[in-house]
Amino acid sequence: MELGRTVFTRIAQPQCGLCHALEDAGTTGTIGAKLEELRPDANRVAEAVRKGLGAMPAYAGKLTQEQIEAVAFYVSRAAAAN
Ligand code: HEC
Repeated sequence: MELGRTVFTRIAQPQCGLCHALEDAGTTGTIGAKLEELRPDANRVAEAVRKGLGAMPAYAGKLTQEQIEAVAFYVSRAAAAN
Protein backbone atom coordinates (compact mmCIF):
# COMPACT_ATOMS: atom_id res chain seq x y z
CA MET A 1 0.00 0.00 0.00
CA GLU A 2 2.78 2.41 0.94
CA LEU A 3 4.62 2.12 -2.38
CA GLY A 4 1.32 2.43 -4.24
CA ARG A 5 0.45 5.62 -2.39
CA THR A 6 3.88 7.06 -3.16
CA VAL A 7 3.49 6.21 -6.84
CA PHE A 8 0.04 7.85 -6.83
CA THR A 9 1.11 11.05 -5.08
CA ARG A 10 4.74 11.48 -6.10
CA ILE A 11 6.42 9.08 -8.51
CA ALA A 12 3.97 9.07 -11.43
CA GLN A 13 4.42 12.14 -13.65
CA PRO A 14 2.02 13.79 -14.21
CA GLN A 15 0.67 12.87 -10.79
CA CYS A 16 -2.55 10.86 -10.63
CA GLY A 17 -3.97 13.27 -8.06
CA LEU A 18 -3.84 16.20 -10.47
CA CYS A 19 -6.75 14.57 -12.27
CA HIS A 20 -8.30 12.17 -9.76
CA ALA A 21 -9.81 12.66 -6.33
CA LEU A 22 -8.88 9.95 -3.86
CA GLU A 23 -9.52 10.64 -0.21
CA ASP A 24 -6.80 8.35 1.15
CA ALA A 25 -4.18 10.16 -0.92
CA GLY A 26 -5.62 13.59 -0.08
CA THR A 27 -6.10 14.51 -3.74
CA THR A 28 -8.96 16.44 -5.27
CA GLY A 29 -8.37 16.47 -9.05
CA THR A 30 -11.53 16.69 -11.12
CA ILE A 31 -10.37 16.03 -14.70
CA GLY A 32 -10.69 12.26 -14.26
CA ALA A 33 -13.12 10.16 -12.26
CA LYS A 34 -13.44 10.42 -8.51
CA LEU A 35 -11.92 7.04 -7.72
CA GLU A 36 -14.19 6.30 -4.73
CA GLU A 37 -17.16 6.58 -7.06
CA LEU A 38 -15.63 4.47 -9.80
CA ARG A 39 -14.24 1.81 -7.41
CA PRO A 40 -12.14 0.12 -10.09
CA ASP A 41 -10.58 -3.28 -9.38
CA ALA A 42 -6.79 -3.60 -9.61
CA ASN A 43 -6.85 -4.97 -13.17
CA ARG A 44 -8.87 -2.02 -14.41
CA VAL A 45 -6.48 0.45 -12.76
CA ALA A 46 -3.43 -1.34 -14.20
CA GLU A 47 -4.96 -1.31 -17.71
CA ALA A 48 -5.71 2.41 -17.55
CA VAL A 49 -2.24 3.22 -16.14
CA ARG A 50 -0.41 1.16 -18.78
CA LYS A 51 -2.34 2.28 -21.83
CA GLY A 52 -3.90 5.60 -20.87
CA LEU A 53 -7.53 6.44 -21.56
CA GLY A 54 -8.87 9.55 -23.27
CA ALA A 55 -7.22 12.53 -21.59
CA MET A 56 -5.28 10.25 -19.28
CA PRO A 57 -1.67 9.64 -20.31
CA ALA A 58 -0.16 6.14 -20.63
CA TYR A 59 2.49 5.36 -18.02
CA ALA A 60 3.96 2.21 -19.58
CA GLY A 61 7.65 3.01 -19.98
CA LYS A 62 7.47 5.70 -17.30
CA LEU A 63 6.63 3.42 -14.39
CA THR A 64 8.08 -0.03 -13.75
CA GLN A 65 5.88 -3.10 -13.72
CA GLU A 66 6.25 -3.20 -9.94
CA GLN A 67 5.16 0.43 -9.60
CA ILE A 68 2.12 -0.13 -11.84
CA GLU A 69 1.07 -3.18 -9.84
CA ALA A 70 1.58 -1.28 -6.58
CA VAL A 71 -0.49 1.73 -7.65
CA ALA A 72 -3.23 -0.56 -9.03
CA PHE A 73 -3.42 -2.47 -5.75
CA TYR A 74 -3.37 0.76 -3.76
CA VAL A 75 -6.09 2.52 -5.77
CA SER A 76 -8.42 -0.50 -5.76
CA ARG A 77 -8.06 -0.90 -1.98
CA ALA A 78 -8.17 2.79 -1.07
CA ALA A 79 -11.19 3.46 -3.31
CA ALA A 80 -13.15 0.54 -1.91
CA ALA A 81 -12.42 1.54 1.68
CA ASN A 82 -14.55 4.65 1.45
C1 HEC B 1 -4.15 14.32 -17.12
C2 HEC B 1 -5.14 13.81 -16.21
C3 HEC B 1 -5.00 12.39 -15.66
C4 HEC B 1 -3.94 11.85 -14.99
C5 HEC B 1 -2.59 12.49 -14.67
C6 HEC B 1 -4.34 10.51 -14.60
N1 HEC B 1 -5.60 10.26 -15.04
FE1 HEC B 1 -6.67 8.55 -14.73
N2 HEC B 1 -8.13 9.22 -15.98
C7 HEC B 1 -8.19 10.49 -16.53
C8 HEC B 1 -9.33 10.56 -17.41
C9 HEC B 1 -9.76 11.80 -18.19
C10 HEC B 1 -9.94 9.29 -17.38
C11 HEC B 1 -11.13 8.79 -18.18
C12 HEC B 1 -12.40 9.38 -17.79
C13 HEC B 1 -12.74 9.07 -16.39
O1 HEC B 1 -12.80 7.89 -16.00
O2 HEC B 1 -12.99 10.04 -15.65
C14 HEC B 1 -9.18 8.49 -16.44
C15 HEC B 1 -9.49 7.19 -16.08
C16 HEC B 1 -8.88 6.48 -15.05
C17 HEC B 1 -9.35 5.24 -14.50
C18 HEC B 1 -10.60 4.47 -14.94
C19 HEC B 1 -10.29 3.52 -16.03
C20 HEC B 1 -11.52 2.85 -16.55
O3 HEC B 1 -11.41 1.68 -16.93
O4 HEC B 1 -12.58 3.48 -16.57
C21 HEC B 1 -8.49 4.89 -13.50
C22 HEC B 1 -8.58 3.66 -12.62
C23 HEC B 1 -7.46 5.91 -13.44
N3 HEC B 1 -7.73 6.86 -14.39
C24 HEC B 1 -6.39 5.91 -12.58
C25 HEC B 1 -5.29 6.78 -12.68
C26 HEC B 1 -4.02 6.59 -11.99
C27 HEC B 1 -3.72 5.48 -11.00
C28 HEC B 1 -3.20 7.62 -12.39
C29 HEC B 1 -1.74 7.85 -12.05
C30 HEC B 1 -0.80 6.78 -12.39
C31 HEC B 1 -3.98 8.46 -13.30
N4 HEC B 1 -5.23 7.90 -13.46
C32 HEC B 1 -3.54 9.63 -13.89
C33 HEC B 1 -7.30 11.53 -16.30
C34 HEC B 1 -6.04 11.38 -15.70
